[in-house]
Amino acid sequence: MPDDLSTDMPMIQFDNVVKQFGDHVVLDHLKFEVARGDRVTLIGPSGSGKTTILRLLMTLETVNQGVIWIEGDRLTHEQKGSRLVPASEKYLRKVRRRIGMVFQQFNLFPNMNVIENITEAPIHVLGLDKAAATKRARELLDMVGLSDKETAHPTQLSGGQQQRVAIARALAMDPDILLLDEVTSALDPELVADVLDVLRNVAETTDITMLIVTHEMQFARDVSNRVMMFDKGRIVEEGDPTTIFTSPQNERTRTFLKAVLAD
Ligand SMILES: Nc1ncnc2c1ncn2[C@@H]1O[C@H](COP(=O)(O)OP(=O)(O)O)[C@@H](O)[C@H]1O
Ligand SMILES: [Mg+2]
Repeated sequence: MPDDLSTDMPMIQFDNVVKQFGDHVVLDHLKFEVARGDRVTLIGPSGSGKTTILRLLMTLETVNQGVIWIEGDRLTHEQKGSRLVPASEKYLRKVRRRIGMVFQQFNLFPNMNVIENITEAPIHVLGLDKAAATKRARELLDMVGLSDKETAHPTQLSGGQQQRVAIARALAMDPDILLLDEVTSALDPELVADVLDVLRNVAETTDITMLIVTHEMQFARDVSNRVMMFDKGRIVEEGDPTTIFTSPQNERTRTFLKAVLAD
């Protein structure tokens, strides 16, 4: 597809997405769009469906109804002639590699050292040669402040260091979209700032589209241009961070923010 057409498409579009587990409707006809380069923070009480949204985008879950579009391509279906068919594994791999995710629980490959963690997918998925992948990995390690940890194994790193490696690993795939799911929630408080600083730097120096689930409200204000408040699988309020954080209109947003800020 020519660039001049695709740049007008939303980077991410949820079109009436329903996701349920058994009878439990977790996302209820959810509709939203995210433009290329947007930084959107998702807030809302536990169980409101935030992680499910990110897992759907990673194709770790599938929708029950509705369609998710990634820059005009269906996430889970592909066009075969005039027919729309469930995506092949090959198609899914292609879509997936445009999207990087960092989870709350550090999930580095435990049997690989730091540089191997970062170069694994670029070599095996993108087909980069080892020298090029290593060069890029070293640049990213420098950016996350861990150049001296190349040969360390995950167990030898603090949680904060592991998260910074996980961020470098996601960026090594040169993603269009970065999904961050409470990446500092499992960290000791003194390790949070370094991880957030790395992410601020990513936000400032790239045009990667970011969906951020976080309870770090100052961080959300610093990096995001939009905040969406979720409750029971619906967006109850959205707007720019200053408006949402200083003068929320919705009662549930007010209650939620009060509880988070009181922590
Ligand atoms: N694999 C699953 N099986 C059953 N229920 C699930 C599963 N994953 C999530 N849920 C339920 O979906 C709801 C939304 O979960 P989640 O997206 O993790 O919310 P959040 O990230 O906002 O806390 C919760 O009630 C959760 O228990
Ligand atoms: Mg969650």
